[in-house]
Amino acid sequence: MKRETIKPFIKWAGGKTQLLPELDARLPEDFKRTVRVYAEPFVGGGALLFHLLAKGLRPERVVVNDSNPDLANAWRVVQSHAAELVEALDELQTDYRARTGEEDRRAFYLAVRDAYNAAIADCADNPVRRTARMLFLNRTCFNGLYRVNAKGAFNVPFGRYANPRICDRETLLADSAALAGVEILDGDFADALAGAGPDWFVYFDPPYRPISATSGFRDYTQGGFDDREQHRLADVCRTLDRKGVRWLLSNSDPKGTDPGDTFFDGLYAGFDIRGVQASRMVNAKADRRGKLGEILVSNFTNGVPS
Ligand SMILES: C[S@@+](CC[C@H](N)C(=O)[O-])C[C@H]1O[C@@H](n2cnc3c(N)ncnc32)[C@H](O)[C@@H]1O
Repeated sequence: MKRETIKPFIKWAGGKTQLLPELDARLPEDFKRTVRVYAEPFVGGGALLFHLLAKGLRPERVVVNDSNPDLANAWRVVQSHAAELVEALDELQTDYRARTGEEDRRAFYLAVRDAYNAAIADCADNPVRRTARMLFLNRTCFNGLYRVNAKGAFNVPFGRYANPRICDRETLLADSAALAGVEILDGDFADALAGAGPDWFVYFDPPYRPISATSGFRDYTQGGFDDREQHRLADVCRTLDRKGVRWLLSNSDPKGTDPGDTFFDGLYAGFDIRGVQASRMVNAKADRRGKLGEILVSNFTNGVPS
């Protein structure tokens, strides 16, 4: 397995590839010697996990979790059925590329999207087909977003890429090998931490608390993760801290747009909180792309000065 091909197999909103140098610098210094269990309760595309695996940092136990059942299904399919997945995705890629005009490709995209939405049961009945369609849509949809409506239907429009790489065989096979033995859960973040103790290291990357310069209204539900959920997560972090579990957490930095916003300072009082900059494509409009303020919170020091 070539290590450089180990990387996220899906593009995911909030993916942490841009923040990897900052996260790397905040890992426990003695990771190799002391961390026996690594857990990511909000794994998404798993940028940090794949980064660790690519670096050869592979503790005895690895636990990943995401409450999105289609995403957790995709992780399991990549782990255990990569060859079938590659075959199914390759077929979709061939069919897509056989259509050369934009309208033809759009029609094909919409047909796959309809089929994906009509067959939610595939998650149980035909998990490989569901993941192949999900990854196809991820590579050909607008901005590579995964967004569902209130009824759970994927509703991102067609993406108009000249020649998208739909089937990344090398990455899928390398990820599959790297994920051997990884425990993949699809529940609530709090349930992924049973039995956590001092030999665990946990990275939390919850859905962002929305940043808005104009509105003081913060606690609307976005992806089901409102301010009450942020409080619940902070309680879990405090409990882990009491058990001697080391953890690192990232979130958006509200101070970038509202210097008076002390939400996270209150929530994580007593822990190490620092602001970092990550460049990330978050917005379709080029002029709104750029450096995003993020915060990293942790309950341990690793020698990196604040
Ligand atoms: C910011 S994303 C994680 C991004 C990831 N670090 C990456 O690099 O791709 C947050 C994830 O949390 C998941 N999520 C939302 N609420 C959750 C909950 N209560 N328990 C577990 N996962 C949850 C979402 O489905 C989403 O995939």
